[in-house]
Amino acid sequence: METIPSILEQRLRTAVEDPGQTPLSITSASDSRFGDYQSNAAMLLAKQRRANPRGVAQEILEKLRVDDICSSVEIAGAGFLNFRLRPEWVQERVLELTQDPRLGVPAPARPLGIVVDFSSPNVAKPMHVGHIRSTILGDSLARIASFIGHRVVRDNHIGDWGTQFGMLLLGWKTILNKTALEQDPLLEMERIYKDVSARCREDVAVLEKARHELVLLQAGDAGNLLLWKEMIRLSQSQFDAIYGRLGVLFDVTLGESFYNERLKSVVEALQAAQIARESDGAICVFSDGRLPQEEDVFLIKDKDGWRDNPAIVLKSDGAANYMTTDVATLQYRIETWQPDEIIYVTDGRQQLHFRQMFSIFRRWKADAAAAVRLSHVWFGSILGDDGRPFKTRSGETVRLADLLDEAEERSFAQVSERNPSLPEEERREIARIIGIGAVKYADLLPHRQGDYTFSWERMLSFQGNTAPYLQNAYVRIRSIFRRLAEAGESWRPGGGMRLEHPAEVALGKRLLEFGEVLPQVLQDHRPNTLANYLYELANTFHAFYEACPVLKSAGDQRASRLELCELSARMLKSGLGLLGIEVPEKM
Ligand code: ARG
Repeated sequence: METIPSILEQRLRTAVEDPGQTPLSITSASDSRFGDYQSNAAMLLAKQRRANPRGVAQEILEKLRVDDICSSVEIAGAGFLNFRLRPEWVQERVLELTQDPRLGVPAPARPLGIVVDFSSPNVAKPMHVGHIRSTILGDSLARIASFIGHRVVRDNHIGDWGTQFGMLLLGWKTILNKTALEQDPLLEMERIYKDVSARCREDVAVLEKARHELVLLQAGDAGNLLLWKEMIRLSQSQFDAIYGRLGVLFDVTLGESFYNERLKSVVEALQAAQIARESDGAICVFSDGRLPQEEDVFLIKDKDGWRDNPAIVLKSDGAANYMTTDVATLQYRIETWQPDEIIYVTDGRQQLHFRQMFSIFRRWKADAAAAVRLSHVWFGSILGDDGRPFKTRSGETVRLADLLDEAEERSFAQVSERNPSLPEEERREIARIIGIGAVKYADLLPHRQGDYTFSWERMLSFQGNTAPYLQNAYVRIRSIFRRLAEAGESWRPGGGMRLEHPAEVALGKRLLEFGEVLPQVLQDHRPNTLANYLYELANTFHAFYEACPVLKSAGDQRASRLELCELSARMLKSGLGLLGIEVPEKM
């Protein structure tokens, strides 16, 4: 289905005789008293033509043919065009929407290839609360991209290589507690890592030993490789348990180690292309002086003025690093999947890393880089009540598995209080859906580039913009159909659509917006826009339900209202599903 803004835009384009240069953007009206959609096209055109905007608006109005769609088009303010839709036209479109499995989302002109690099935890460390944001944001963007119709590759770029393995290997060989390892492998690996790294800081001899283990591993020592693989296997099974609980899937898990054999040639190629050069024994990329200083990611300003801020691609000890690996990874992804976009989801502290990495790649492979949109989708931190990074009461980082357990436990207590008579198994399942959904929604709702304060009370509340509120809106609609079935009545979709009451028209318009919202969510990488849309949808539904009796109405009106209910439920379920959130049938 085409969206309303795109239909209006075409009409506008015909009226202004503009073959498509000027962006004639049509947006939802900021205030519904003035109409449903608005455009600043007249103002843009007036600027180009150095004419009076209201005059241009008047000219457009004379040529504009939208009588079939709009009941009125008015000029407002400095030259805005305000469109008000005809309820009959809305009704026709809502009827079409009920039959559209894509829920009004237009098919893309060309399906894009999109690689989403997300979650990407480091091996041999337990996943903690900080990993949730990348996992959930990335999962949601991938789901949305697939729904729209793009080809998506979900790639978990796990950190399975690097200096930490020297210490881990040394610890494994000297202080490993086998019993502890069996009980909780990640906890034990974390313990040996912390222990050895603390001793490395105090004692150079230990540091030397850890380095030696790393050198052996990198040289392909069979014993160390075996231990390293075991650490990865143990970590992966813990990651998989978490992904299973979160309902997150990956197409590929190509960790950093996968790119090992490419690193040397990347560094050599960068040197040959004179992008990287030797400096203090390391190989670095410096500014090429092409950009204004403010935009140059290889320069930094301090009190003495601008100075170099190079990116190291080979350390003075001869080891490649995170940067080298990411350049090699990017090259591999382009070769392998020819994507139109690569989305990297990490926290905001990696902004410089990605800007430098993208810049190195553009300087190295200008043509390949021009064909792909490189997006660093970054996010802020999760804070505790004290405004500091969210920690357990004893001040430790919160392990993700514990956090999910607590979400389910708290939700189970709530569900049991509300439905004491439901069998325990059913209460557990409902609690799982609500608890996990609440954590995810609380993470997706805030503007991702800000920090947010973690609050169990808020995220599990049935009031306000929360997952339980939206899940409950769904459950309430479903219960209408249960009551219908209990009364022995059957209902089948396809009974027609009649939008008469203003609350019915308002709901119809809201439902039609989904197809406008979703592509924008992907374009801006902002699942919070979808979350807010769903909240508005639930509110618009409640207003309709208050004003328009459904089961107590009759005939065509009843059939039409049931149809609106069914579509609203389907949209809430699908929309939440695109945020990775399930819905229960009861709660
Ligand atoms: N493992 C990294 C971390 O935990 C995130 C990797 C993100 N992806 C990438 N291609 N650099 O910070």
